[in-house]
Amino acid sequence: MVKDFQHWLITGGCGFVGTSLIKTLLAQRPNLSIRVIDNLSGGSRKDIEEVTPVRILDNIILPMADPGVELLAADIRDLKTAMKAAAGADVIVHLAANTGVQASLRNPVMDMECNVAGLVNYLEAARKNGIASFVFASSSAPIGQAEPPITEQSICRPISPYGAGKMAGEAYCSAYYGAYDLKTIALRFSNVYGPLSMRKGSVVALFIRQALGGKPWTINGDGTQTRDFIHIQDIVSAIIAAAYSPCGGEIFQISTQIETSVSDMAAMLADILKEKAGIQPDIRFGPPLKADVPRSWADISKAKTMLKWAPGRTLQEGLEETVDWFLCRI
Ligand SMILES: NC(=O)c1ccc[n+]([C@@H]2O[C@H](COP(=O)([O-])OP(=O)(O)OC[C@H]3O[C@@H](n4cnc5c(N)ncnc54)[C@H](O)[C@@H]3O)[C@@H](O)[C@H]2O)c1
Repeated sequence: MVKDFQHWLITGGCGFVGTSLIKTLLAQRPNLSIRVIDNLSGGSRKDIEEVTPVRILDNIILPMADPGVELLAADIRDLKTAMKAAAGADVIVHLAANTGVQASLRNPVMDMECNVAGLVNYLEAARKNGIASFVFASSSAPIGQAEPPITEQSICRPISPYGAGKMAGEAYCSAYYGAYDLKTIALRFSNVYGPLSMRKGSVVALFIRQALGGKPWTINGDGTQTRDFIHIQDIVSAIIAAAYSPCGGEIFQISTQIETSVSDMAAMLADILKEKAGIQPDIRFGPPLKADVPRSWADISKAKTMLKWAPGRTLQEGLEETVDWFLCRI
């Protein structure tokens, strides 16, 4: 197996996780070759240029070669592009997706086309191009409503099209390992927050943006619903650990193993905003969101043992860093 991957293909590389991953990879090894495929429906060229200069590729895609970051504005639903784009890559990190439960409820067919067919295109491109390692960004959503802690053995009963698509994605990753020996790993990220999330609609980024814009916060439901909030840097280190891991066909829960209610997180965030920016957000309560699970936190023993990975930041430290990052941007 290739130990030091030189050529990284990252789908969805203009998004929150992608830009954070690219920033860290280049900080560790500035002369890497990184190719990003992104249709710019979520992230933008400006987002990636915040972390690195990019060369823009047109439609003619040569095998990956030179150091630096290339951006091809293309859709993962296009198999021909996937086949050409993966030529010369050592590793594929598949992040591109129709992200989030609510977006999938609005358009389940498009969600399936992006999150299932789009993934299979890149698995197929990986197989045909002899890629050494394939990392897939899954989520806790395949589990649906289950008594926590969630583990890799928990029975999947998704309650949203997004969860169903990620579950299908995990199944295809397993199948490509079993049928073709493609070394795949699916990482189930919990709720990710942190710097570079300016555009995100997830609760931490949304609340900070709203507070800095003088707007009130609306907690969906009574705020007792719990989440396992994880800092982006811990997600990035898990992706890199998975890329280099000798395991194949595996799923890992990637979270902090700590359950925090949305109300408690909001109270922590409010204190930080008060201290750092003198802002006291007005907190309101609204109706619960559809397909929102009441409790979610995961057991990460498997990732600790097999990936030798563990999260490093507390929620307090991570929220402080995130607020600092937003304050520098405004
Ligand atoms: N952020 C989280 O809390 C979280 C939690 C669990 C799982 N995940 C998963 O991690 C991955 C990355 O999440 P993120 O937060 O960076 O999302 P993001 O929305 O910030 O980034 C996704 C990127 O994919 C691109 N994209 C979307 N559809 C595409 C398509 N059809 N073709 C090409 N590009 C396309 C978007 O333009 C965007 O830049 C996703 O697969 C997501 O489902 C994220």
